[in-house]
Amino acid sequence: MISIQHLSKRYEHAAKAASSSVAALSDINLTIGDGERFGIIGMSGAGKSTLVRTINLLERPSSGTIEFDGQDVTHLRGSALRAYRRRVAMIFQNFGLLAQKTAVENVCFPFLAANGTVTDENRHRALELLDRVGLADKASSYPSQLSGGQQQRVAIARALACKPEVILCDEATSALDPKSTNTILKLLRDINEETGVTLVAITHAMDVVQKICTQVAVLEAGHVVEQGSVEQVFAQPQAEATRVLLGKVDWDA
Ligand SMILES: Nc1ncnc2c1ncn2[C@@H]1O[C@H](COP(=O)(O)OP(=O)(O)OP(=O)(O)O)[C@@H](O)[C@H]1O
Ligand SMILES: [Mg+2]
Repeated sequence: MISIQHLSKRYEHAAKAASSSVAALSDINLTIGDGERFGIIGMSGAGKSTLVRTINLLERPSSGTIEFDGQDVTHLRGSALRAYRRRVAMIFQNFGLLAQKTAVENVCFPFLAANGTVTDENRHRALELLDRVGLADKASSYPSQLSGGQQQRVAIARALACKPEVILCDEATSALDPKSTNTILKLLRDINEETGVTLVAITHAMDVVQKICTQVAVLEAGHVVEQGSVEQVFAQPQAEATRVLLGKVDWDA
């Protein structure tokens, strides 16, 4: 379980006066249960990327705490931080593959990063994962030889390499066409059901939430303005921001 309590994040602008800062997240409280498919939705600049980057401790919160399995992880450093990051994998909008490495080498990269070497067993697991994402025949291809959807599938295989408990997805499908989007969303949902891995999907697209998530939180200007089951939030949106995202606002009114 991920428990986020009173989380705030301000970005200071070093070049400007000390008083100049942006409140990207303000007093966020969220609980994400084990094995859930949790969507976090909001418009551009709402703070979605900041929130996932903070969960992964790529950014440090300005205040508040993040607990993972009952442990306060907010201030982890060094090897404890690296161990935490292996439990919480991340996939990105632009796939983030290493251009000079083949698909299988990319999937093996977390082992190389963690242990300084890749064993036969690691390579075997990487090939199994490529097979799972439907790319058994592309193991030796470089990212430039793969479509966007195929690159994202390699990124998913890489995210799974160290058997994470959580996968954070930041706009994982927004660079893809509708067909590849559906393939990726179905793959993520199936992997959640097969392995019980918790999915946290950040997106500005309501249909992504509708297709894969069971729970959703709506972010607006750094605040959670609404949260609940996808069914409930879609049927009876309470916040104005949710209604805008759902396209239920009459612009001529
Ligand atoms: N490194 C940074 N330094 C300063 N301000 C930042 C930084 N990263 C984000 N911000 C600011 O924090 C706010 C939230 O940004 P964030 O990237 O989290 O939004 P987002 O919801 O992911 O938007 P998008 O949908 O466009 O990706 C914005 O006002 C942004 O300008
Ligand atoms: Mg973003």
